Amino acid sequence: MLNFSFQNQTRIHFGEGQIDKLSTEIPKDAKVLVVYGGGSIKNNGVYDQVVNALKDHTWFEFSGIEPNPKYDTLMKAQAVIKEHDIDYIMAVGGGSVADGCKFIAAAALYAGDDPWDILAKQQPIESALPIGVVLTLPATGSETNTNAVVTRDGNKLPFSSAAVRPQFAVLDPAVTLSLSDRQISNGVVDAFIHTMEQYLTYSVSGKVQDRFAEGLLQTLIEEGPKALQPETKDNLDVRANIMWSATMALNGLIGAGVPQDWATHMIGHELTGAYEIDHARTLSIVLPAVMKVRRTAKHEKLLQYAERVWHITQGSEDQRIDQAIALTEDFFQKMAMPIRLSDIELGAADIDILMANLEGHGMVELGETKEITLAISRQILEQAS
Ligand code: NZQ
Repeated sequence: MLNFSFQNQTRIHFGEGQIDKLSTEIPKDAKVLVVYGGGSIKNNGVYDQVVNALKDHTWFEFSGIEPNPKYDTLMKAQAVIKEHDIDYIMAVGGGSVADGCKFIAAAALYAGDDPWDILAKQQPIESALPIGVVLTLPATGSETNTNAVVTRDGNKLPFSSAAVRPQFAVLDPAVTLSLSDRQISNGVVDAFIHTMEQYLTYSVSGKVQDRFAEGLLQTLIEEGPKALQPETKDNLDVRANIMWSATMALNGLIGAGVPQDWATHMIGHELTGAYEIDHARTLSIVLPAVMKVRRTAKHEKLLQYAERVWHITQGSEDQRIDQAIALTEDFFQKMAMPIRLSDIELGAADIDILMANLEGHGMVELGETKEITLAISRQILEQAS
């Protein structure tokens, strides 16, 4: 196992009715900015619950954070923060709102001249306003992790800092009942691929991490399709298991002490940056191609994945790996996700654009061993065609 230091201090309040906890989690003298997206929280009762929980607080609001949050939108929040002397950011939404709030919180206290440098130059962040999250879409793990992704003019760039890890997160599976099938699918597959990015690398004998990861993958394979079927989609146990899996998939635990890949994400970000494809739908296209192109480097873990996650024990090693990749694609299709570039009507000319963007963003040494050069990324995209 690799050396690691692990701390995740986000306090989690899980279960129905837990939005009430905002009243005690946020200091009574704080000036709170409630930040949300396009308004789904006004239709499903979440906004009312938040307003009720904050009845003894001084709070203001900022809305309109779009999916794949945009830098220009997030910078507009800075004026509200200054005007009202805001000292607490309360994110209410999915990963885009949580990520957007992390950037807002960091930009508010940024000591440099241009907050864009946090993303474009990966400038370190010394401090940020404190953040709480009411999660409405289980997918990204953003509610308890240190990461955020922000888009500006087609450039979708990540940053990470311990300063933006939320202080607390409310996970109420009941608020996910209003999600569309498309967002449910996106969330399940995003969580699945987060797990794969930290699992499907090479073995360092991280047995605890591997078995945690395999448990998450099996849970998502089992519960994900149920959240789309009419007879089970409103079952709160199904929703709870998906929600907890998505948080656990990217809270730092399964990735501590093991190599991590993330090539699927970096290539996927270019698809969203250039064509505004939903994040998870880029991943379901890229991951199978990564599994195929990197099958030699990932051989041992692919066999372990085949046996432990899909219970494939018969056939040659190559046949078992082929079958595991096919079953992964079947699972994505069962979740109504695209698995090829052609499924989203992209082709060879688009690959050239994506390659130029990968190069422009310095994504030239990807994967757990940094072996995914631009030439290999091209093979992956061609494989995904
Ligand atoms: O904006 P509103 O009106 O709230 O609607 C949202 C949005 O249109 C809607 N929605 C959310 N909760 C709902 C709901 N609709 C009905 N009922 C609910 N309960 O869903 C739509 C998509 O929301 P979004 O937040 O964009 O989705 P997601 O949670 O998948 O977040 C995606 C973003 O997170 C980034 C992605 O790149 C993307 O920008 N990621 C962040 C990561 C992290 N911080 O660690 C890792 C991820 O891999 C990912 O890169």
